[in-house]
Amino acid sequence: MLTPLFDLGTYKREPRFTNGFYQKDILSVSQFSKADLDYIFERAQEMLAMCETWGTCDLLKGYTLACVFYEPSTRTSSSFIAAMERLGGKVIPITEGIQYSSVSKGESLIDSMITLEQYCDVIVLRHPEIGSSATAAKYVKAPIINAGDGAGEHPTQALLDLFTIQRELGTLDGLKVAMVGDLRYGRTVHSLTRLLSQYDVSLRFVSPDTLRLPLDLMNELIDKGLNVRETNKVSDVIENADVLYVTRIQKERFSDLAQYEEVKNYFVISPDLMAQAKEKMVVMHPLPRVGEIEYKVDKDPRAAYFRQVQNGLYVRMALLAAVLGQA
Ligand code: NCD
Repeated sequence: MLTPLFDLGTYKREPRFTNGFYQKDILSVSQFSKADLDYIFERAQEMLAMCETWGTCDLLKGYTLACVFYEPSTRTSSSFIAAMERLGGKVIPITEGIQYSSVSKGESLIDSMITLEQYCDVIVLRHPEIGSSATAAKYVKAPIINAGDGAGEHPTQALLDLFTIQRELGTLDGLKVAMVGDLRYGRTVHSLTRLLSQYDVSLRFVSPDTLRLPLDLMNELIDKGLNVRETNKVSDVIENADVLYVTRIQKERFSDLAQYEEVKNYFVISPDLMAQAKEKMVVMHPLPRVGEIEYKVDKDPRAAYFRQVQNGLYVRMALLAAVLGQA
């Protein structure tokens, strides 16, 4: 008879909170009610306070995250890793630079997901195909968090964007939000627009003609009775905007690179343009920027994009803890 390795006692890994997030996939912002958003933001505030006081804790000790990225990422992947580590959990980071067949036809994504599920408790997935996370979620019991499905959605980015607006301006209602750049392929715009449509906001969409917001999303907003307008000049919106949400032209989504070349330097936010904006306006960007915001703007106190990055850590900590039943 071997001497037992572990004195397991009576402790069991059980959820402390069985609210609406426990074991849920996070696939689209459409799944969040206002009450859900308030809940995550309150928890994110607690995460912020914990980070400032202790730096790390044991809330997710005993849990493992698989962080799977089939598309490049700096912030999203590293912030999920940082979030898990600050909560005392472990991470399996996987970045695949390989070509693979489409999710709908090939087995490779599903097989990898089912494999990883044997090793972890939650999976963060970024993949270039719209709907890939939803497909994976059908086959996998562990919660899947969509970290970007092609030009589809990027729900966790939208949550941190909304949290940033709330922290910067103290409210979400009554705001004029201008979205600038690649509104057609920019998944962060799609997700944030949907989230904002739950609030009393007016939305201005600024893009080249070829990169306008997808028609189905525009119709969704109009059906909800939102005050929306489109233009192709930042100067039309800069004076009245409370939030200027700037995005990169998504080069990798163009099938014809000549079309990308035509629009690549369409918008540049400069100190001159900032001089026309409200004193309390905030400039946001999901990053990476590739020339849309001049570096000189960084010194402007209204430039919120690096504070936005930091908020991402707290929101992702809150989400991970919530889907694992620990928040
Ligand atoms: C965005 C993305 O991946 O959609 N980046 C991010 O997650 N912060 C924006 C972009 O790539 O332009």
